[in-house]
Amino acid sequence: MPLAGLLTGCGGVQSALDPAGFEAEQVARLFWAMLIASGVIWVLVLGLASYAARRRGQPWSQQGASRLIVWAGAVVPTLLLAVLLFYGLRLMPELRAPGGPLRVHVEGEQFWWRVRYHPPGGAPVESANALVLPVGQRVEFSLSTRDVIHSFWVPALGGKMDMIPGRTNRLVLEPTRTGEFRGACAELCGASHALMAFTVRVVEPAEFEAWLAREAAPAAAVEPAAQAGEAAFLANGCGACHSVRGTAARGDIGPDLTHLASRPTIGAGILENSAENRAAFIARVDQIKPSARMPAYGTLPETEIAAIAAWLGTLR
Ligand code: CUA
Repeated sequence: MPLAGLLTGCGGVQSALDPAGFEAEQVARLFWAMLIASGVIWVLVLGLASYAARRRGQPWSQQGASRLIVWAGAVVPTLLLAVLLFYGLRLMPELRAPGGPLRVHVEGEQFWWRVRYHPPGGAPVESANALVLPVGQRVEFSLSTRDVIHSFWVPALGGKMDMIPGRTNRLVLEPTRTGEFRGACAELCGASHALMAFTVRVVEPAEFEAWLAREAAPAAAVEPAAQAGEAAFLANGCGACHSVRGTAARGDIGPDLTHLASRPTIGAGILENSAENRAAFIARVDQIKPSARMPAYGTLPETEIAAIAAWLGTLR
């Protein structure tokens, strides 16, 4: 039973021990090799200690003592550690191999992820907090930040890599199976560090191409029922910080919301993307996400907030 409890941490959408990517497989393999080897070393050391305890009081022959010191004290530990060292070094080039045709730039912000796809031969496509990746293809991530240090980590796919002000780091990931995974910020970056997550959906390449084409297009023409929401969004100045391509909202400070409704979560991976949660986020972001740069709009009439939340729900 205790073992079952321990092993529940080894599965799920955010586990380095349930790999769904080439890089994560190397990391998991190294982890298990190190765990088994250190288990063997632990048993050997305990065996030697109990042997020594049992022999207490009996004199050692000169030859026996030297043999024990040479073998158990030098030769065996050196051999074991050398094997582990070379095994680890052999995996390193696999993790550093240069990237594939698809490049994705991710910028850490307090407390969300700005995402820009650079498809070969096409214009960049901006999104936020939700990655979609093609299965079986190497993707090169360039990682940066303008505020503080963040760290980009999708445990099931590989990584992690820090985002450091003033430089761009590179990370290559190659998903090996489709599915939904979770990424998180792995560097303490402020009050809402723990609320800085993102989703990763790994799909077949054809589905990925279709998604990217949809993502590149501006928001679809607004349905008449949702027009009040778009008007309220613009009238309250939301467009000064957020972009919704195809509307007058052109801000560059907060997340791009052009296809918000196609993302599974809002608030950088912390709330399910429902009308109720979108409204709550607009009204009480200061409580939901402490220290976020977005001010809470709880003073707006509830009907207006509901209209904005409903309109955002049409941005597929
Ligand atoms: Cu960003 Cu922690």
